[in-house]
Amino acid sequence: MELTYRPRRLRRTPALRAMVREHQLSSADFIYPLFVHEGTDVEPIGAMPGASRWSLAALTGEVQRAWNLGVRCIVLFPKVAEGLKTEDGAECFNANGLIPRAIRQIKQEVPGMAIMTDVALDPYSCDGHDGIVSPAGVVLNDETIELLCKQAVVQAEAGADLIGPSDMMDGRVGAIREALDDEGFEHVGIISYTAKYSSAYYGPFREALDSAPRAAGSKPIPTNKDTYQMDPANAREAITEAQLDEQEGADIMMVKPGLAYLDIIHRLRNESELPIAAYNVSGEYSMVKAAAERGWIDERAVVLETLLSFKRAGADLILTYHACDAAEWLRQG
Ligand code: PBG
Repeated sequence: MELTYRPRRLRRTPALRAMVREHQLSSADFIYPLFVHEGTDVEPIGAMPGASRWSLAALTGEVQRAWNLGVRCIVLFPKVAEGLKTEDGAECFNANGLIPRAIRQIKQEVPGMAIMTDVALDPYSCDGHDGIVSPAGVVLNDETIELLCKQAVVQAEAGADLIGPSDMMDGRVGAIREALDDEGFEHVGIISYTAKYSSAYYGPFREALDSAPRAAGSKPIPTNKDTYQMDPANAREAITEAQLDEQEGADIMMVKPGLAYLDIIHRLRNESELPIAAYNVSGEYSMVKAAAERGWIDERAVVLETLLSFKRAGADLILTYHACDAAEWLRQG
């Protein structure tokens, strides 16, 4: 055949392929989520093989391991003791709570590591919602934001670098920005869960923290988060959320989940010049682990291909439970 263009010319050798490769993964792109609890053991999480709830005593070692592999940011999630959970989740702004203590410890022991936090009431609420649930079963917006602001300030005081509101209340980014600035934390950034969908992919995470919505007493508790997290059918609405978050002062915008929402990552990339993060969530992680355990897929190849797809879609940063494994594989080349 007399073909002028033969795209295979540039795929012929590893050197040529490396020269024209458009996207690269780097361990510095990863944000590594870690679960912490008050206990003294490291508890494996049934639905997330390879992930654990860390005791504070063991946490430093895992953070140091991530650091040594080139990971530069972690995000902390607490499994809060049942007895501390209340309707208003007030434990979330206890300056001596699990998360502030974990932050102070890591800042002391692995000082270079950036620390992101999650701002929402669900791990602290006996109702399992990200906001306060009214007696009528409505998740209250403005009342919740007052608590989220206190939570953010306590996390900043403890030393957090990036505050991550994951609650999807309207106006929370602006309110948290103002609260941080008022308390002298104008240097602390906000990584907003900008387009967070009401997704079934969070199942294993809710098991890890025992934080799923649940009925307690006579209050009618919504069984899902559809009145605040986004409808998976909507894409344009993500742009509206992104415009609001930018106006309100977000420093980084996140799309969550990741894999089923690559189009949303791509859209936000085109709409904004801010860094974009993708959250490769618990359900995505567990599906890969389950298939790999059965020998049905090649875990390493699938994970690296998936993480690369986030970069190709336009993400700068990737929150992923695979962070240490992937960093190790990248190092091996
Ligand atoms: C809490 C929160 C959730 C996740 C991160 N922060 C769960 C939820 O909204 O129900 C999910 C993360 C994952 O599934 O890996 N607001």
